[in-house]
Amino acid sequence: MSVSCQSIGDVEESVGAPWWADAVVYQVYLRSFADGSGDGVGDLAGLRSKLPYLADLGVDALWINPWYPSPMADGGYDVADYRAIHPDFGSLADAETLIDEAHRLGLRILADIVPNHTSSAHTWFRAALAGDAAARERYVFRDGRGEDGSLAPNDWVSCFGGPAWTRLPDGQWYLHLFAPDQPDLNWANPEVVAEFEDVLRFWFDRGLDGFRIDVAHGLMKQPDLADAGPRIASSQHVQAHPAWDQDSVHEVYRGWRTIADSYDPPKVFVGEIWVPDNDRLVRYLRPDELHTAFQFDFLRTPWRADALRTVIDDAREAVRDVGAPPTWVLSNHDVTRVVTRYARHQPLHPVEADWDRGRWPYQAPDIDLGRRRARAAALLQLALPGTAYIYQGEEWGLDEVEDLDGRVRQDPMWVQSDFTDPGRDGCRVPLPWGAQAGANLGFSPDGAVPAWLPQPESWAGLTHDEQVDDPDSFLTLYRAALRIRHQLWCGAEDLVWLDSGGDAVAFRRGPLECWVNTGTRALSLPSCAAVLLSSAGLVDGKLPGDAAAWLRH
Ligand code: GLC
Repeated sequence: MSVSCQSIGDVEESVGAPWWADAVVYQVYLRSFADGSGDGVGDLAGLRSKLPYLADLGVDALWINPWYPSPMADGGYDVADYRAIHPDFGSLADAETLIDEAHRLGLRILADIVPNHTSSAHTWFRAALAGDAAARERYVFRDGRGEDGSLAPNDWVSCFGGPAWTRLPDGQWYLHLFAPDQPDLNWANPEVVAEFEDVLRFWFDRGLDGFRIDVAHGLMKQPDLADAGPRIASSQHVQAHPAWDQDSVHEVYRGWRTIADSYDPPKVFVGEIWVPDNDRLVRYLRPDELHTAFQFDFLRTPWRADALRTVIDDAREAVRDVGAPPTWVLSNHDVTRVVTRYARHQPLHPVEADWDRGRWPYQAPDIDLGRRRARAAALLQLALPGTAYIYQGEEWGLDEVEDLDGRVRQDPMWVQSDFTDPGRDGCRVPLPWGAQAGANLGFSPDGAVPAWLPQPESWAGLTHDEQVDDPDSFLTLYRAALRIRHQLWCGAEDLVWLDSGGDAVAFRRGPLECWVNTGTRALSLPSCAAVLLSSAGLVDGKLPGDAAAWLRH
């Protein structure tokens, strides 16, 4: 196939665009990022020691998963105190130092706020358990159905499996859309609204630049708590359900936006929002609500040019009218790592059908294939206009750890699904920083203790230290891509599709073109263009299958 050359305009300056509109945000799953204290658990000291690495990588901001005191029933998404740091991670002073140091290196910091539920260890819920009526009003307590109240108040089930209600010895039930240790808050209660507004100010006053909002489509429930009926599958990713995406939730975010805008510079929100379609999603992005939201369809799309083009267009069009940037995510702490997802042939319509966090476990993975595609996907993601998220270890090409022993698994999904769903531990295994002697591939300073989840031996060749000076490594590719992105692209530029044929995704954006070959046959590239970067070596000037290249005329 041959293609024609395109003339390229000058680089536009994105005057006045807010920093987050074209930012690259690096997701830090703190427990597994780097251990500074030597106990096998990642912490703020470990993260601080790696800030120079992150600045050098070329990202603009960090999003740090929950860092609060927590019994860790759900990896910290069960928060016991929203105004403190888990002692395993450090102290409030460490968090403040981290924010200062990051700012000095030009990195912004987003934390994770979890408003749909607290931990059952939160003082509010403890008071509720002790029978305090006002405290019960902050959660969703109900009498049961049936003569003796022994039937749950409705038919909702937990996202992790099993019922969404737990009965107390006094006969009342409480709602938990996730684990029983994560009681849902009652957002119709003004005390809850006021509490979270105060928590936002608490962290913004300490210099935090914004928040990722956990389960942002949750919070409000239909007031009558109606049965879900045929929509009983409770997964937060499915169709309209009385527990999710209620119109009243938007009022909460209008209040939050007012607080964010009262700071100079204004603070920023990104919502984790699982709704049936983009029309529902953009309602959260109206100018007086959230700034951005993850658009997860991109990561649920199979490695096929037509499907990728469609999802990219849908995502851009969806946010155009509200003036928000699209967001591009290849993986996070809830889904199978991108290398392993792309290592399998994928169902044709995972977005609509059997999305199961990208596991498709019925096929043996071809990890080399997955890695080639993940390298290409990185160049695609980082060329797209909008915000890009990199999940820790993605820049090293780490694969999912699929063979963790059931006894070490910690995700509540494993137990709540009656050991049928392995859960999300496989994408949360501690990072292999180096090959130092010791038990945990450089995760801890002296490697004296094993990491909190065991790392696979196969990662010994994928450590940061192995990759940092290797011109062909994943890390080198990411660093080069991020450098070019910052030098040559700016947020205001949209993409223009190029005529590329069936198996290719190709577009021009500002001074560069991005070509992605999702097929198996080599693809001819425009002959008048210089190849700035490619995910695989060209063969006779052609782009091999499962590879991508950035070109400049
Ligand atoms: C979000 C988090 C996930 C957590 C759940 C409950 O989906 O990303 O890790 O289990 O919310 O808080």
